[in-house]
Amino acid sequence: MRDCRVSHTLVEMVRQLVVGNWKMNGSLADNRVLVAALTAALGDGAEVAICVPFPYLSQVSGLLQASNIVLGAQDVSAHSEGAYTGQVSARMLREFDCAYVIVGHSERRAMLRESDAEVADKTIAALAAGLTPIVCVGETLAERDAGSVQDVIGRQLGALEAVDASRVVIAYEPVWAIGTGRSAQPAQVAEVLGFIRDWLRARTDKAHATRILYGGSVKADTAAELFALPDCDGGLIGGASLVAEEFITICRAAADRST
Ligand code: PGA
Repeated sequence: MRDCRVSHTLVEMVRQLVVGNWKMNGSLADNRVLVAALTAALGDGAEVAICVPFPYLSQVSGLLQASNIVLGAQDVSAHSEGAYTGQVSARMLREFDCAYVIVGHSERRAMLRESDAEVADKTIAALAAGLTPIVCVGETLAERDAGSVQDVIGRQLGALEAVDASRVVIAYEPVWAIGTGRSAQPAQVAEVLGFIRDWLRARTDKAHATRILYGGSVKADTAAELFALPDCDGGLIGGASLVAEEFITICRAAADRST
């Protein structure tokens, strides 16, 4: 049996992180309005990042100057440079002030057939350039129904075998909860986050230093309960990150946990 008390105590020392994943949304005009609302409302507290589409990195980087919100991207090439049409390197993301990059999002795994090996290579490339990868893991509904949640997550976590996991953020996002309005139940989330913490603990004595996020239909009215779970260090927020008031409330829920 894992000792939840130890886990909880250590987690208290980690500042919570809320990451907005804009996916393929936004426009120059809309971004200006949304970012202005966020920068006006969010001060210290939880760490907040927004991962925007590549074409908006330059604009949003400028809008975030002198704010506490940090910038991220939604994908990165595993290669450093060369003949890779359409890809974007980690070094390029750094030039636009990115601190974070999402790697292995389930939409890319499903639609673009991104493999665990590619996710591992991207994780390594991001770290080498000084970016913090947010490595997404999560099971489909069929995998959950088949009782293979831990097998799937364990396999996906293999992307971290070759890296210092304390330099990575892990986002648990059950595929069936993404964009569906159907967040996983707190007990289901707690079980998987605990499994991930145990996976880390079996490999490193710095398991508490890795921030583990939950993502999947997190909303203003569900965030506080999810962020209060013992091994939860924040959230990866899709749809609700496009609505200023929702996202601000979610960030404040995380800030309450960080103080
Ligand atoms: P959602 O997306 O919050 O809209 O479910 C989360 C994600 O895909 O990162």
